[in-house]
Amino acid sequence: MRTLILSAEDVAAAVRHVGLNALMDEVIAALHAACDDQHGNETYDVPKREGFSYDNPAVGLLEWMPLLKRDVEAFIKLVGYHPNNPWKRGLPTVLSSLLKFDTTNGHLRVVADGTLATAIRTGAASAVASRILARPDSSTLGLIGAGAQAVTQLHALSRLFPIREVYVCDIDERVAQSFARRVETLRLDDVRFHVCAANEVAGAADILCTATSVAVGGGPVFEDGALLPSVHINAVGSDFPGKTELPRSLLDRALVCPDYLPQAAREGECQALPPEQLGPDLMQLVRGCGQYAANQTRTTVFDSTGFALEDYVVLGVLERIAAEIGLGLEVEMESRSDPHDPYAGLAGSPAAPLRIGVDLKEAVAAGGLQRPGKNR
Ligand SMILES: NC(=O)c1ccc[n+]([C@@H]2O[C@H](COP(=O)([O-])OP(=O)(O)OC[C@H]3O[C@@H](n4cnc5c(N)ncnc54)[C@H](O)[C@@H]3O)[C@@H](O)[C@H]2O)c1
Repeated sequence: MRTLILSAEDVAAAVRHVGLNALMDEVIAALHAACDDQHGNETYDVPKREGFSYDNPAVGLLEWMPLLKRDVEAFIKLVGYHPNNPWKRGLPTVLSSLLKFDTTNGHLRVVADGTLATAIRTGAASAVASRILARPDSSTLGLIGAGAQAVTQLHALSRLFPIREVYVCDIDERVAQSFARRVETLRLDDVRFHVCAANEVAGAADILCTATSVAVGGGPVFEDGALLPSVHINAVGSDFPGKTELPRSLLDRALVCPDYLPQAAREGECQALPPEQLGPDLMQLVRGCGQYAANQTRTTVFDSTGFALEDYVVLGVLERIAAEIGLGLEVEMESRSDPHDPYAGLAGSPAAPLRIGVDLKEAVAAGGLQRPGKNR
């Protein structure tokens, strides 16, 4: 009944152990394999995510993303989205935790930091879709929105495509200008970086990733115009009702592929389109990849809202590495008292016996305590 806790430092140690590129390659392969599972629809039950959105004390969103692997285990990701975090609090916009449960008894088996894992799996998802929908010789990457997700978009795509030129823009000039420095860890020595306006980025790209924190109703983040006819777009930032990044005219001529239709239809670029205009989802794309490669010469969109299977897959990879090198802390998190007596576990030692405390009714009667609000 122990719970394995993998902190941010444990996750970082797992990544250091295998190496950043090896980890990204493994997550791309594992996600592809999970999507390729012919029995996937019977294996996984993935309800749509739910959450709270609020404007106070800060503009934000807190969501829970469940998954049941039937007959095996359950998983929930808790994710917070607070777009003012970077500049107001020095924190990432997306903070998250990953939880795994034993479905024989409800025991919480694993709690892991999900912040780095989210960024890695979001990059990996774009890579899985782009391998099918983008031209294999794509060498120019456009990034609109140059924050945390943009880093892993470049990383994941650089593992599959011969990226040589990266065009970057961000409404925050400091974020755009710092991008090349922030990706030095990837050692992409042959890549040249250019900071320019959104429409220029879109016009130059063989593959375009939009990963902005645009506000609800604030899109599109570039104008439809001089895009390459074969451009493939990973639309990463549209993940809430009303929050979209792409121009409608572009969606109308493109093959638009949701990651997970029930969610993308509510939160992604797909919310703008009628059902008959939607292409295959990520699982269908992977399972029929030969058939969909014919679309590499036309405009394609991967509508990435981010779904729980991606998080479940990346946690599986991290758990494997943690077990291999003994990472994490195991704690007795849950009470294991007498099944019929929740107080049984409270019995202390003779040196520290269970205190019953003051009887509230007697204390009030004796005038030692006042009922709340009595003298107002
Ligand atoms: N699809 C997924 O699986 C997935 C996963 C994680 C995050 N996201 C989404 O991706 C987006 C980016 O997340 P992040 O963690 O990189 O956030 P971030 O805050 O690190 O970066 C977002 C950047 O977008 C910029 N931006 C906002 N509006 C813009 C605009 N109109 N044009 C250009 N730049 C603009 C901001 O200045 C910011 O630097 C968010 O919307 C988030 O909800 C999606």
